[in-house]
Amino acid sequence: MPAATAVPLPVAATRRVAGLLSPLGLTPAVLDDTLGWINPMWRVHHLQARVVAKHMETPSACTLVLQVGAAFPALTPGQYVVIGVTIDGVRHRRAYSPRSVKGHTNQIAITVQRQPGGRVSNHIRDQLPVGAVIDIDPPAGDFVLPATTPPKVLLLAGGSGITPCMSMLQHLYATAPNTLVTLVYFARSSVDRIFAQELLALSRTWKQLHYVPIDSMAHTPGQAPVTPSPEGGAARVLNLPLLEAACTDWRTMPAYCCGPAPLMDAAKALWAEQGLSPQLHLEAFTAPSPSGDPNARHRVALDRIQGHIDFVAAGNLTLLVAGEEAGHQIKHGCRQGICHECTCRLKSGSVRDLVSGERIDGEGQPIRLCVSSAMSDVELESMT
Ligand SMILES: Cc1cc2nc3c(=O)[nH]c(=O)nc-3n(C[C@H](O)[C@H](O)[C@H](O)COP(=O)(O)OP(=O)(O)OC[C@H]3O[C@@H](n4cnc5c(N)ncnc54)[C@H](O)[C@@H]3O)c2cc1C
Ligand code: FES
Repeated sequence: MPAATAVPLPVAATRRVAGLLSPLGLTPAVLDDTLGWINPMWRVHHLQARVVAKHMETPSACTLVLQVGAAFPALTPGQYVVIGVTIDGVRHRRAYSPRSVKGHTNQIAITVQRQPGGRVSNHIRDQLPVGAVIDIDPPAGDFVLPATTPPKVLLLAGGSGITPCMSMLQHLYATAPNTLVTLVYFARSSVDRIFAQELLALSRTWKQLHYVPIDSMAHTPGQAPVTPSPEGGAARVLNLPLLEAACTDWRTMPAYCCGPAPLMDAAKALWAEQGLSPQLHLEAFTAPSPSGDPNARHRVALDRIQGHIDFVAAGNLTLLVAGEEAGHQIKHGCRQGICHECTCRLKSGSVRDLVSGERIDGEGQPIRLCVSSAMSDVELESMT
């Protein structure tokens, strides 16, 4: 059910008021808090959004329509926003890939797939009501279309990985409808396919869109592969015959892939085999797992404002998880390497950055505990 929406206060007006009040000692942060108290959408620093509608897309995925203030920057399709929600007194931050809402310049929509045992996705699905106000960061990320729209684009999506692709599709349809777009979309079954009706309807009205929905059991390990059938049939993973059948000239266009690890790994291998890796753009929803030695025991010393802690980290755990398993409460937000709330300075030792795969050594380097694993004993200093 939609909630009442508020008129956004122009950003310029807010800044002018801040300028007039600063000689009185009223800082922008205090003014922001005051404006936010009157109406959260008037904030210009610590941005917030109000849930104005909520509906189910599938039994496990729901869409939130969010009203944002005038200070919220323009969204580039494919980018993500980090939102903050408080659950049982603890603030959690997670990234979601929004799309614009037709006819509403101050609204965006996010679609959240429930993850088994997941804190934030289940809270959003089951608890977060229409009318709730949540924290939101400006859009970020480089999983976006080129500045000049190419004549052909290939989108590969799996499960909730359809969200950034949907944002791109809507944008291309609205602004560059002559673009030839192929969308290959893996979902466990038609019931689990997010935006199923919308995509079918779009493919019927937009002749340039070649839509290939595929029922996948890619999430079901231990089951035998089935024969690929690109036109709506069942196939467990992306492979060359399927790709050739879905998009004959896939080698000639940029491709955007977002979905579970098996889909992304298959795409990476296919494009690499052809020497075309630069044409493939990837967006991962989960950080890679550490693959270090589970028997290694590295000593970790962490200096924080709240006090010094020591713990031991195995090579196959992130530093955040190792610290938590040792019984410490360690500051974190997204657990995905995005929000930087867990960033520490490396004073000595070596860690593996799980996102870039690089080894980081030496004094002074910033590292994120949620996407780093120890490669030696390490000394760290909290930066937040
Ligand atoms: C750039 C970016 C954009 C994203 N966009 C979206 C989006 O549009 N829609 C959406 O639903 N999610 C999206 N995500 C994932 C989202 O940020 C959360 O990770 C997800 O909602 C789970 O959070 P949680 O708190 O429920 O789970 P947590 O409590 O953090 O984790 C619970 C368990 O679920 C596993 N898990 C977490 N996320 C996933 C996942 N995506 N797939 C499989 N297992 C997982 C964890 O490994 C863990 O075992 C995006 C992530 C990133 C990095
Ligand atoms: S918790 Fe967000 S970057 Fe580590």
